[in-house]
Amino acid sequence: MTESYKSILQKLSHAIDAQLSDKVVLAYSGGLDTSVSIKWIKERYGLEVVTCTVDVGQKEDLAAIGEKAKRIGAVNHYTIDAKDEFVRDYVFKSIKANSLYEGAYPLSTALARPLLAEKLVQVAEKEGAVAVAHGCTGKGNDQVRFDVTVKAMNPSLRVIAPVREWNLSRDAEIKYAQEHGIPISTKKSIFSTDQNLWGRSIESGPLEDPYTEPPEEAFEWCVTPRNAPDKAEYVEIEFEKGIPVAVDGKKTDPINLINFVNSKAGLNGFGIVDHVEDRLVGIKSREVYECPAALTLIAAHKDLEKLVLTRHELSFKSKVEEEWSWLVYSGLWLEPLRLALDQFIEATQSRVNGTVRVKLYKGTMRPVGRKSENSLYRHKLSTYDATSTFDQNAAVGFIELWGLPSRVASEQLLNSLSQAKKDRPAVAVSKNPSRPKKGEH
Ligand code: ARG
Repeated sequence: MTESYKSILQKLSHAIDAQLSDKVVLAYSGGLDTSVSIKWIKERYGLEVVTCTVDVGQKEDLAAIGEKAKRIGAVNHYTIDAKDEFVRDYVFKSIKANSLYEGAYPLSTALARPLLAEKLVQVAEKEGAVAVAHGCTGKGNDQVRFDVTVKAMNPSLRVIAPVREWNLSRDAEIKYAQEHGIPISTKKSIFSTDQNLWGRSIESGPLEDPYTEPPEEAFEWCVTPRNAPDKAEYVEIEFEKGIPVAVDGKKTDPINLINFVNSKAGLNGFGIVDHVEDRLVGIKSREVYECPAALTLIAAHKDLEKLVLTRHELSFKSKVEEEWSWLVYSGLWLEPLRLALDQFIEATQSRVNGTVRVKLYKGTMRPVGRKSENSLYRHKLSTYDATSTFDQNAAVGFIELWGLPSRVASEQLLNSLSQAKKDRPAVAVSKNPSRPKKGEH
């Protein structure tokens, strides 16, 4: 059987299953929104709820989350370990793209959403479900990332978003949970958070005033610089084809490498982002993140690229990076342009091999050394000492031609000014002859 014939049959059988199905697959985090959603979807739509929790390194008790889902009423629960896939297919691409949305946010939440959506679709197809569901509000970016990816992968699936449809406040959700016997976490947080191994997003509560400094209790990954070690720590990160492969000389698997850098940088108080961000839906919001590994690895990668890529490659790539980050932020992971940009980025990475040494100290991080077998740095060209082979006389001719367009433009401007002066009437007629002119008394 040919592959395409097989996939048509699979799609057909899914469509038939879906006709008969009364199931929905809900992305379940174990939090209040998605817990309430299990009951709500059942009540409102009369659908059986299958829950699915995808492990992207959020370091939560996944077994307890699965049990909780079943206790609330899920007919089946899936726990999917996607950490490795997340790092290799999403995080590594974003490192190669030096991806920082609006120059600041390493897309930690944004990158995980299309992967979650993909897993939901796979479970839905396996279960023969008619719909997938998520706990996103109608005010954020996450709903867009989920909905767009689900629809691109399987347009026959419906998307149910109880929180968006319900428009309930947190207090109303708590009341609903109490009335329906849904367990509520006693650990009441004033913040709304989302985390995976690439970062932790912190929103709401006092953070909604963009002028108020985030309180210390908002942070879990980064210590306050005052409590960081008094001595600087150094980390050596080795890259192969743009991917971090070793730390301090030891080859490390990708997940451990990221965890290591997260804790090392976090314990030195580095990794906080605090900025005003433009959400896709047109809202400006104050966003706070803890992304110690993401910020460190991207900075180190970018630093290494400066050593091995040409000026022209760097300049063009920075434009590609901005577009790539925008596409990912705005939920268009599956957009063909993103895939095409990835091919360009990939083509630049074959020479991005080498080691970057970063210094961590009291809330700061800075690359302080870099080396590579592909280095384009030539000491004999850049040195100011007598061994220099750079021909300084050649600079004169170069400057002559480099400045030519600017010189011609200035000359033209001066010509027009002097022409304008000539065209002006010779004597200005004073409107107020009784008033003394400047300098007369
Ligand atoms: N502003 C970030 C983004 O759009 C963070 C979103 C946090 N999401 C959450 N469900 N708490 O990627």
